[in-house]
Amino acid sequence: MGMESAAEHMDFHAAKALLEWQMELGADEPIGEVPVNRYEVPAEAPKPIAVTPASAVAPKIEAIDPVVMAEAVAEGAQHLEELAEVQEAFDLCDLKKGARNFVFADGNPKANVMVIGEAPGRDEDVEGLPFVGRAGQLLDRMFAAIGLSRTAANPAEGIYITNVLPWRPPSNRDPEPDEISIMLPFLKRHVELADPELIVLMGNTPCSAALGRKGILRLRGNWAEAFGRPAMPMTHPAYLLRNPAAKREAWADLLAIKARLKGK
Ligand code: URA
Repeated sequence: MGMESAAEHMDFHAAKALLEWQMELGADEPIGEVPVNRYEVPAEAPKPIAVTPASAVAPKIEAIDPVVMAEAVAEGAQHLEELAEVQEAFDLCDLKKGARNFVFADGNPKANVMVIGEAPGRDEDVEGLPFVGRAGQLLDRMFAAIGLSRTAANPAEGIYITNVLPWRPPSNRDPEPDEISIMLPFLKRHVELADPELIVLMGNTPCSAALGRKGILRLRGNWAEAFGRPAMPMTHPAYLLRNPAAKREAWADLLAIKARLKGK
């Protein structure tokens, strides 16, 4: 054998013992023309079998964009009841997990005026209706002062009330920008389906959602455009409860709303 191997250097006795051992194991004939040296150390370690990770084989599932999802779901709603249904079932906003109730709207959906607040507080979360706590009672008195009410059957005397967010943020914290962005398509569709003549934006959150602007103390009292219709930013009734002196300006804003409705 021309091979340089361990067997080549074996002495007679070792080779004989090896042969006998092979016979002991049942070998009774040599196989093949060329002997195989089974004691040779392989030059290279055997390559590990390549296992293709499942992630490379499985089709890639793109991460769901909650805003795109919300747009698709909201756009599909053909009337307010359907919008409420699909919005309540929407699972991609984490606020839902901590809230007791889904708060959609209250008042007359055919009203000329749509009021948009921030988000349910504790009382609203318990009752499942917007603006039913102290701030809500003040809101009712404010609109009553210009002849409008959430219980009026006549659209010209009614108001329709909703919030940017339908679920209460934990401990009434300010809504996060991504929570607003995720739920904005629902608000947009809500306005389209209710189709009010004008909108009242109560506080900073609806202003940043609908106008992309903050700074309610500068914005209030100036007509803006939200969702393609006239919108009046006003200080939130909760702010007015803490700052009664600001009620004078709020009254001026209410009169501007009344004048605009009369002018139609
Ligand atoms: N504040 C809001 O902005 N909305 C409510 O529904 C209650 C309090």
